[in-house]
Amino acid sequence: MAKQMKSRAIVRPGLRTGESVRVLIPHAKVTQRLKELARDIRRDFPKEALHLIGVLKGCVFFLADLARELGGEVSFDFLAVSSYTKGTDSTGEVRLLKDLDISIEGKTLIVVEDILDTGLTLKYLLRLFEEKKPKKLRVVVLLDKVDRRIADVHADYVGFTIPNEFVVGYGLDFSERYRNLTDVCVLQFDSAGKAKSK
Ligand code: IMP
Repeated sequence: MAKQMKSRAIVRPGLRTGESVRVLIPHAKVTQRLKELARDIRRDFPKEALHLIGVLKGCVFFLADLARELGGEVSFDFLAVSSYTKGTDSTGEVRLLKDLDISIEGKTLIVVEDILDTGLTLKYLLRLFEEKKPKKLRVVVLLDKVDRRIADVHADYVGFTIPNEFVVGYGLDFSERYRNLTDVCVLQFDSAGKAKSK
């Protein structure tokens, strides 16, 4: 018997004591905005092969969905960096944990980042990539916390500008948790929550 199509299941957030989440951007809005971002990118590069560079791990759902919306010739690769954090605050130190597998020389690169916060990670990455002589270098971010910027960097394509709140879901984590939420949510702590967060 054919399976009946069901609407999207409600994903239980797996909350720990002292933590709660509030939906900031529902998944349907993310999906809609991704189509627009893909259209904007393809308008700028109608016939070019695009090489997406995903910054692990927050980019995974964003890159996977964006790559399928882009159409045309698309390849992708990933790298991983650690941005040292204390709880939900970045200390600004960046370290390369996993390098790219494929040469980027002469390619049209689109760096795919989950969130632009202080901008220190992106600044580090742009310097790294520019040394390797890509043909063009553009940046797409799903979320931009403009008020938090320290480094003088910007994204060429921005999904949503958001306020200075700590967000999780759609790939974004807190201590590796909550990445599997389909919506982008604000993570909230009560006084007990932050102490128990690790
Ligand atoms: P940066 O401060 O722009 O260098 O951002 C460093 C990294 O911190 C981002 O790539 C994210 O992985 C992480 N980050 C910054 N803000 C948030 C947030 O609100 N939720 C989850 N991760 C975040």
